[in-house]
Amino acid sequence: MKLGVCYYPEQWPEADWADDARRMKSLGLELVRIGEFAWSRIEPSPGEYDWSWLDRAIATLHAEGLGIILCTPTATPPKWLVDQYPDILPWDSDGRPKKFGSRRHYCFSSPTYRRESVRITEALALRYGNHPAVVMWQTDNEYGHHGTHESFSPDAARAFRLWLQVRYQSIDALNTAWGTAFWSQGYRSFDEVDPPNATVTEANPSHRLDYRRFSSDEICEFNREQVDTLRRHSPGRQIAHNYIGDFTKLDHHAIGASLDVAAWDSYPIGLLSEGDNSEADKAHWRCFGHPDFAAFNHDVFRHCSPQWGVMEQQPGPVNWATHNAAPAHGIVRLWTWEALAHGAAFVSYFRWRQVPFGQEQMHAALLTCDRQDAIALTEIAQVSREREAIGKLETRPARVAIVLDYTSLWQHEIQPQGRAGSVLEMARKLYSGCRQLGLDVDVIPQDADFGSYGLVILPSVSILDATACGRLQESGATVLATPLTGSRAVNGHIPDDLAPGPFAKLLPMQVRVFESLPPFVKLGVTAAGWKFDGSLWRESVKSAAQALAYFDNGEAAWLRNGRVHYLACWPNELLLMHVLRQLCQEAELGVRETGRDIRLRRAGNIQFAFNYGPDLVDLTFLGAPDADDKYLIGGRALQGAGVSAWAV
Ligand code: GAL
Repeated sequence: MKLGVCYYPEQWPEADWADDARRMKSLGLELVRIGEFAWSRIEPSPGEYDWSWLDRAIATLHAEGLGIILCTPTATPPKWLVDQYPDILPWDSDGRPKKFGSRRHYCFSSPTYRRESVRITEALALRYGNHPAVVMWQTDNEYGHHGTHESFSPDAARAFRLWLQVRYQSIDALNTAWGTAFWSQGYRSFDEVDPPNATVTEANPSHRLDYRRFSSDEICEFNREQVDTLRRHSPGRQIAHNYIGDFTKLDHHAIGASLDVAAWDSYPIGLLSEGDNSEADKAHWRCFGHPDFAAFNHDVFRHCSPQWGVMEQQPGPVNWATHNAAPAHGIVRLWTWEALAHGAAFVSYFRWRQVPFGQEQMHAALLTCDRQDAIALTEIAQVSREREAIGKLETRPARVAIVLDYTSLWQHEIQPQGRAGSVLEMARKLYSGCRQLGLDVDVIPQDADFGSYGLVILPSVSILDATACGRLQESGATVLATPLTGSRAVNGHIPDDLAPGPFAKLLPMQVRVFESLPPFVKLGVTAAGWKFDGSLWRESVKSAAQALAYFDNGEAAWLRNGRVHYLACWPNELLLMHVLRQLCQEAELGVRETGRDIRLRRAGNIQFAFNYGPDLVDLTFLGAPDADDKYLIGGRALQGAGVSAWAV
């Protein structure tokens, strides 16, 4: 339960460093992340290292007892390296190399860059790997950001062909797996295959799906090379990577397997503005962030590596969203406690001091450009004090799980059958529904153990593994699947027995038609005499199973077979909540209806309540204590953006 900050000593006069370190310490911070964009300062010219400034920066922070998270600087290769080896640049989907001048300008498949990445990682690890201040490493920065999860360079094309050879062994197997009989795409050898970009119209979907798999694997491999290097020269230190929230272009589970810590960068207000939230929600939560955004990502990254944390926490307005609102007073404290209550090992704020030059001048920090305290500072000081009242937080397994499968997300992005709705959005809505029932939720991969859950939700997991269905059956959990579940085989084809593929073993049925609809079309759905709406997606299902709801045309909208349920449309909010309430009752999960703005989270025997709205709420409606002296922090009257916690 540590607090930290991202710091860029190379951007500030050395005369400020000692005072910065002293102020960090007195604020209660214990961790400082440095170095992720510092390559050109560490190695100003090829092979000429300047360690002196970094030695002094580390010594200054160490003198205050601050632990350092040292980053490999590979997100920003220096200009001389790009000039010397232009083959390190990534190529866009139009087949053009990108240029130097921002960041992430490298291709994961460039052998030159792979070599350079290991070289600079090794140099850093040899210099600082056993330094007592270095407690953790961070590899690179935000893999895949700015559209760099794929590159279409000649090196990527070469690596893709090798990857295909390993996967398929023979070109005939590839032709079958991709269905190249369609549009005359047959290949005679792996050498003939290119990346699926710059085609006249849409490229073969199985080809594209494999390119997504390949690109994610390349990032895994790139990361693993750095991890191996760090482990060799820096024993006993944890290794982390900082992922992006709500980002689904990489398989975080696969990358996380070689890491000790899955960290992620939490910008709740920035992503409220950018995400697919309604205008009303964007207005209502303008300065709070969506109440389930950060929690959802905490629950994703918790399951990627042995430990997890927040490497970058938004402390004020960001600079990069469509609109950049200032956070409500108190919300930085709330975000911090929500992360800690979810089990974060640390929360580190981005960044220490607002920088008056460069691309992110308008991005808030803990200090203003002129080194005065910015608004979040008092909130962080408060969290730091409150940690004593709370003590060590235990984790407590959730009873509800939502399955997040990256390959299925890619498959749906590649062939969505219209523009309505995304699988991630479906997962988020289900997650949000569960949280509004006061439940804690795990977001897990489909190869996870389902044994401890009362309710497992498959939000349109299109490429569903038959073994996952077997494990679901054995688990005894109540199961809910939404449209498109099991609708594709591993190569992205429609399964022989049609959708829902292996899921039909759990609930005998067949989807005869899938249609997508514009948002203004509402589908009437009647369940137990109540009228609800669906929208966006509708399936026409053939099944002898019991129907619990019907579309207006008399077809089944909700089917069940014992504990297994299937929804044949995208449920609007009332229908979604109705279904979840019934399933929670069946699974004997006690619910507490929190309403729109309040959220709960249990950590060990401590219950937290968070208010993501502007209005004061009396918490006793949730069974919270009525006497304020029973609260560890906060009280029964929970202010807007407030946090309360009590022992149960
Ligand atoms: C993150 C990135 C940081 C900084 C921040 C600004 O995506 O890792 O370096 O750019 O956004 O919000």
